[in-house]
Amino acid sequence: MDSFKPILLMVHVAVAAIAFGVSLAPSGTLKRARALGWDAFKAAATDFKRRDGMAAIAGFLILITGLGLILMAPGGFRGVGPAYHAALGLVLIMNVIGGFVTRPTASKLVAAAEARDDAAATAGIKRAAMGAGILQLLWTVTLVLMFLHRFGQ
Ligand code: HEM
Repeated sequence: MDSFKPILLMVHVAVAAIAFGVSLAPSGTLKRARALGWDAFKAAATDFKRRDGMAAIAGFLILITGLGLILMAPGGFRGVGPAYHAALGLVLIMNVIGGFVTRPTASKLVAAAEARDDAAATAGIKRAAMGAGILQLLWTVTLVLMFLHRFGQ
């Protein structure tokens, strides 16, 4: 069990890095692809949807591995400080935003590319940028929460 915890921590950090990495800067790519024409935009929108799917899986795994680490900490949920309780809340919010904002946006972008609907494409790119920005901000706050214990919090 003692050697399982560092492995779980490694997986935890790896899936968190994947969630952040796959969702970096989607709107720039989508905008540039849109300027190149509908075929390029369709490829970019499909790629965005795939990356969003990977981010969703990684986001869920952050939650599962984080809960596992809490359960393995001495004292369990009560044993870990409020920073980890706050992280749990934030990652739940991130999963909800992923499910209700970025996931539908990804599908709408692909549909807009297939229908060659310029207004829907522009609106989708804006929503994708907004969703990614909010998620990255929450991710960064959560990362800081992870290290507060090293500063005596
Ligand atoms: C953006 C999301 C997250 C990132 C980037 C992240 C990253 C990290 C990192 C880098 C550590 C190592 C910290 C250290 O060694 O000082 C860590 C530890 C930990 N994380 Fe997260 N984490 C995230 C979300 C969560 C969530 C949502 C939970 C709770 C459900 C959680 C629970 C924990 C626990 C309990 C530890 C401490 C493990 C130990 O006892 O050493 N994490 N996390």
